Amino acid sequence: MQKKFSRLILLSGLMGLAISGVSQAQDIQAQRLYNQSLAATCANCHGTNGVSVPGVTVPMINQLPESVMYERLMEYKSGKRTGTIMPQLAKGYTDEQLKTIASVLGKKN
Ligand code: HEC
Repeated sequence: MQKKFSRLILLSGLMGLAISGVSQAQDIQAQRLYNQSLAATCANCHGTNGVSVPGVTVPMINQLPESVMYERLMEYKSGKRTGTIMPQLAKGYTDEQLKTIASVLGKKN
């Protein structure tokens, strides 16, 4: 009886581990999806992954390193950097979201 009981405890422990592994993978996937969707809003003007369509006057942003992109976005947000669209747009995001966007679109060194 004692043995059966401890086996049951072990089994439920293992099941718990398996379930937490799955939900962790789902969390990571959900986080990735969220990050991608934040950055996708920029594609309307800057093109997919920051590569704008040739001949369009919107700056190509895929060559900006992550840290530089974040800095510029923060400057648009604070009003330090002027522009036609970006200052309004940057104000709509939290600092954390801008950091996430820069990490998705910025060039990896
Ligand atoms: C409606 C079009 C539009 C959208 C959407 C847009 N941008 Fe821009 N972006 C521009 C324009 C136009 C400029 C040039 C500065 C200005 O006039 O605001 C610019 C400039 C920039 C710059 C500076 C580039 C440089 O070389 O200095 C960065 C960085 C940037 N955008 C990032 C983003 C990110 C990140 C997003 C998504 C959150 C985004 N933009 C969404 C139009 C857009």
